[in-house]
Amino acid sequence: MKAKLKRLLPVLILLMGAGIWLSPALSQEYIERVADSGFTKQKRAGVPFFHDEHNEKAGVEDCYICHHVYTDGVIDPYDSSEGMECSECHLSEGDSDLSLARVYHLQCKGCHQEKKAGPVACAECHKEL
Ligand code: HEC
Ligand code: HEC
Ligand code: HEC
Ligand code: HEC
Repeated sequence: MKAKLKRLLPVLILLMGAGIWLSPALSQEYIERVADSGFTKQKRAGVPFFHDEHNEKAGVEDCYICHHVYTDGVIDPYDSSEGMECSECHLSEGDSDLSLARVYHLQCKGCHQEKKAGPVACAECHKEL
């Protein structure tokens, strides 16, 4: 019940803020799941991800950590690709779904493993149908 309310809250806020209706892209504070349009079919349950809440808890302040831009082969700390989907850069021809999932796993799970915090098992992330 509590979880359900929590999920409804962003919707209510959206309904109240008329201006938000007109904005072309969803601002990040309302993101509650990863839903990259690069995946044409879903084999796994969806991945809940409360963007701002996650990043606050995880202590990740810099956008470029996830929304990176590479300059000369390295992540540029002065640039960021926020507002772009990962698939805008990580969808290569051929087995594209696989390479896109792979970079998500490398980034999400990679940090969780490194920090020894956050989910690393499939069903801990893929749990929402
Ligand atoms: C831990 C990784 C991470 C960090 C740090 C992060 N983001 Fe995100 N952000 C994501 C993911 C994942 C998505 C959803 C991508 C999708 O579903 O296509 C997203 C989506 C967004 C979107 C929506 C883009 C769209 O396609 O609708 C915006 C805007 C955004 N983030 C801005 C920011 C800003 C600003 C910061 C820094 C204050 C930030 N993000 C930090 C992971 C992160
Ligand atoms: C503006 C383009 C761009 C966007 C958007 C982007 N990336 Fe990247 N990413 C790159 C480039 C360029 C590289 C380095 C070259 C390479 O290895 O493909 C890279 C490398 C990576 C790597 C390392 C790959 C490896 O094999 O070591 C991961 C993981 C990754 N990106 C995940 C993500 C995730 C997750 C998102 C979305 C939150 C994202 N990227 C958004 C351009 C982008
Ligand atoms: C730069 C590091 C980093 C990245 C990248 C990252 N996480 Fe996390 N994540 C954490 C940490 C640290 C925690 C533990 C926070 C705490 O203490 O509860 C966490 C916790 C979580 C949790 C547990 C619930 C919560 O919100 O606290 C989920 C679910 C989660 N991460 C999903 C993701 C997903 C999905 C991605 C990729 C889109 C991702 N994370 C990328 C560091 C990261
Ligand atoms: C730390 C979180 C995390 C863990 C752990 C994780 N995934 Fe994912 N996975 C993601 C995210 C985020 C995406 C992108 C989801 C989207 O945009 O819909 C994804 C995408 C996928 C996709 C492509 C989309 C689909 O549903 O077909 C598959 C397949 C997948 N994961 C399988 C797995 C398997 C199997 C495991 C365990 C070995 C696993 N994942 C563990 C976060 C995770």
